Amino acid sequence: MGWVIPPPKRPKKTKEVFLEERKRKVSLLIRRGFLKSPRIIKAMLKVPREEFIPDFYRDYAYLEVPFPLPGANATISCPHSYPLFYEALGLREGDRFLEVGTGSGYGAVLGREIVGDSGKVVTVEIDEDTYNYAEENIRRLGYSDIIMVLGDGGLGYPSGAPYDKICITASCPRIPEPLVEQLALGGRLITPIGRSEHGQSLVLAEKKSPDEGLNVKVITEVLYVLLRGVYGW
Ligand SMILES: C[S@@+](CC[C@H](N)C(=O)[O-])C[C@H]1O[C@@H](n2cnc3c(N)ncnc32)[C@H](O)[C@@H]1O
Repeated sequence: MGWVIPPPKRPKKTKEVFLEERKRKVSLLIRRGFLKSPRIIKAMLKVPREEFIPDFYRDYAYLEVPFPLPGANATISCPHSYPLFYEALGLREGDRFLEVGTGSGYGAVLGREIVGDSGKVVTVEIDEDTYNYAEENIRRLGYSDIIMVLGDGGLGYPSGAPYDKICITASCPRIPEPLVEQLALGGRLITPIGRSEHGQSLVLAEKKSPDEGLNVKVITEVLYVLLRGVYGW
């Protein structure tokens, strides 16, 4: 496992070209079985991924490559990883959604489109430069009701809890306890676990009862940046 990042270049593609590429990418993700739910499909068709990618990589927006962002070890994940996480979570209208690792802001905006007006999105980023970059992207596109937090997402965001769905976009040593506490009964959490550079386990956890631990299953192998902070490495 590993990524080959194409060389930076001055962006040339038009809005229309990006729209065509977005439609083609969504069709492909449906055919490959990553994308199924109508709301997630609609969100991926609507949100312009190129708006979340630094200028010099912008023309590669729909390639299956994670691109570097301002800040230490931050990336925007590959296009397929968003439906991989959100379909497994069962993210849907009305959910109270917590994202740990805002990165570019793309995942939070997709989440906002999926949960809709009756839901809520909280996203936490630990790196100040990355946070500022994401904030600029999110506000420029007009998503003023996403709750953005600069801090350690391993600690969650207790004042927004409980959450129906939690998505951690950096690989953890184990599921951080504060996030287990902030997960609603019946809620789901998804996270990469492990620190191997060759692949980590993508784990889906469900809180079925208030006293017992989470029901956990491994979905596939992934490769993510490592979690920082109190519950990080
Ligand atoms: C793969 S990137 C996130 C991609 C993002 N979801 C997007 O759509 O662009 C992982 C992010 O997690 C952040 N991160 C790492 N440890 C963190 C922590 N303890 N709390 C919050 N964010 C953290 C990194 O700074 C990085 O921006």
